[in-house]
Amino acid sequence: MTHIHGYTMGHSAHAAEGAVSGAELGQLRASVLFGDDDRAALRRAGELLDDQIEALLDVWYGFVGSQPHLLAQFSNPSGAPIVDYLDKVRARFGQWVRDTCAADYGDDWLAYQHEIGRRHARAAKNTTDGADSTAYVPMRDLIALIVPITVTVRPFLEGRATADDNVDAMMGAWLKAVVLSVALWTQPYVADGQW
Ligand code: HEM
Repeated sequence: MTHIHGYTMGHSAHAAEGAVSGAELGQLRASVLFGDDDRAALRRAGELLDDQIEALLDVWYGFVGSQPHLLAQFSNPSGAPIVDYLDKVRARFGQWVRDTCAADYGDDWLAYQHEIGRRHARAAKNTTDGADSTAYVPMRDLIALIVPITVTVRPFLEGRATADDNVDAMMGAWLKAVVLSVALWTQPYVADGQW
């Protein structure tokens, strides 16, 4: 794979301490109704999205760029967007789409979800890219972005689906996968045991 700055799946430094347990992950997967059929639908979605990821990222970045409160999270204290920060995160975001569709929910995957959560929270935002930006992404926005991150995928799936494909099943599986990830990412925000 091409080197992606800051992408540490498989060797996340903070894997051990404070990460979510495999048992908690299993319960969370049950909570979002994630089953074998979803895993298969996600794999198929990954095939259909694979060569469209840059176009998908254009849509997502276009949305973030159009919302001042979101763009602020990629901007410096004077309010100027940090191009290098946006670009470096974009490369990892593309890999995240692939990883989400291919996820095995094993230890490396789980540890990297913990790391992604820390990178949105005070624990580690800005550190990977040396960015001079806001201290954390508000947790409310993390949750709210599940909607655009989900609904914008449909046209990309529909554009490539064949007669044998079930786009609704792929959309359902994608939504479950994103909610599962974001639920894991909230863990570093919740300091007093209520996660
Ligand atoms: C469903 C919601 C979201 C998803 C799926 C998502 C996905 C991602 C991914 C995959 C990364 C790169 C992780 C890595 O380092 O490998 C990332 C980083 C980042 N995201 Fe999000 N994100 C979400 C919500 C948000 C929101 C609401 C904002 C606010 C603008 C935001 C701002 C950022 C920033 C600033 C980074 C870089 C963090 C750092 O300093 O390392 N994200 N996001």
